[in-house]
Amino acid sequence: MEIHERLHIWFQQNARALPWRSTRDPYRIWLSEIILQQTRVDQGLPYYERFIHRFPDIQSLASASDDEVMRLWEGLGYYRRAQNMLRAARLLSEQYGGQFPTTYDELLQLPGIGPYTAAAVASFAFDRPVAVADGNVMRVLARFTGKTEPVNTPGGQKIFRRLAQDFLDRRKPAIHNQALMELGALVCKPRQAKCENCPLRHKCVAYNQGMVEKLPVRQAKTAAKRRIMHYLLSLHNGHVAIRQRHAEDIWRHLYEFIPVPEKISPNAAKIKALFGLMKKPRKITTVKHQLTHRRLELHFWFTDEKISSENYISASEINNYSLPVPLRKIWEDLAREKYIL
Ligand code: ADE
Repeated sequence: MEIHERLHIWFQQNARALPWRSTRDPYRIWLSEIILQQTRVDQGLPYYERFIHRFPDIQSLASASDDEVMRLWEGLGYYRRAQNMLRAARLLSEQYGGQFPTTYDELLQLPGIGPYTAAAVASFAFDRPVAVADGNVMRVLARFTGKTEPVNTPGGQKIFRRLAQDFLDRRKPAIHNQALMELGALVCKPRQAKCENCPLRHKCVAYNQGMVEKLPVRQAKTAAKRRIMHYLLSLHNGHVAIRQRHAEDIWRHLYEFIPVPEKISPNAAKIKALFGLMKKPRKITTVKHQLTHRRLELHFWFTDEKISSENYISASEINNYSLPVPLRKIWEDLAREKYIL
């Protein structure tokens, strides 16, 4: 039996029943791919369901408010994904008659759609003959071909993208692409690959040469940098000071408590002076939080004084604002302990 056919049969017999697999609706496929770009399937599924329930099509998403979309996205991280998605939905609604374009090149023009997502939507929804090359596919192909180029450098990825395109079954792009991805997720896993269940093993270079554990090659990356941030939480008469973050670095457009400028290394006396407080603020807690390229150390200070230059909202309304996960958690811990609320 031909190798593509083996792969397709394996897929039909073993694929997980995921909601975005039983549709050709490009909106649903696009949404799932945006969510799954940096999120595991089990973690992304409930978000997908909530999104589809609240915004079942492009039109409903296009007319949503930024804050509501961000609130639904909260906890998924990489918030720029949600912002770009909203921009794309509005653009499609205003300039494309509310329809997705059907080719790879046109899809690539939309905000937040890169080569991977364009290929996924073009092939899954429209059966266009473009290969997807995500981490799963590159791992499968590295092992299958025995290639030792790194899968996490631009040069290596270019090679694996070309390889994926050469290996594509042009008669059935949608099934082929999803089958390779699923094989990577379920069988050809990063560790403890289940080669005994693999439909490709007879022709797999890594399997036949005992190299499965050695591939794919990854280039070592530099350690994540540490960043220390201090926040002043000002709660006055049931109102809390929050601001929207506009910095380009992290948490763009999310809301936060009052950030203490990072140049100074704050203590209670410095924060008191900086914000013109009557009393020193109280240190509440320090938490560590890991982002992909940053290890954050977050220090929280508390005051019940009002700072006139800040914007206050009612504490009961804070759930309507999208906060970074560690800030939300601090808030909930405080509220639960009836510490301040
Ligand atoms: N990861 C990225 N896209 C996916 C998909 N469509 N199904 C399962 N896992 C995925």
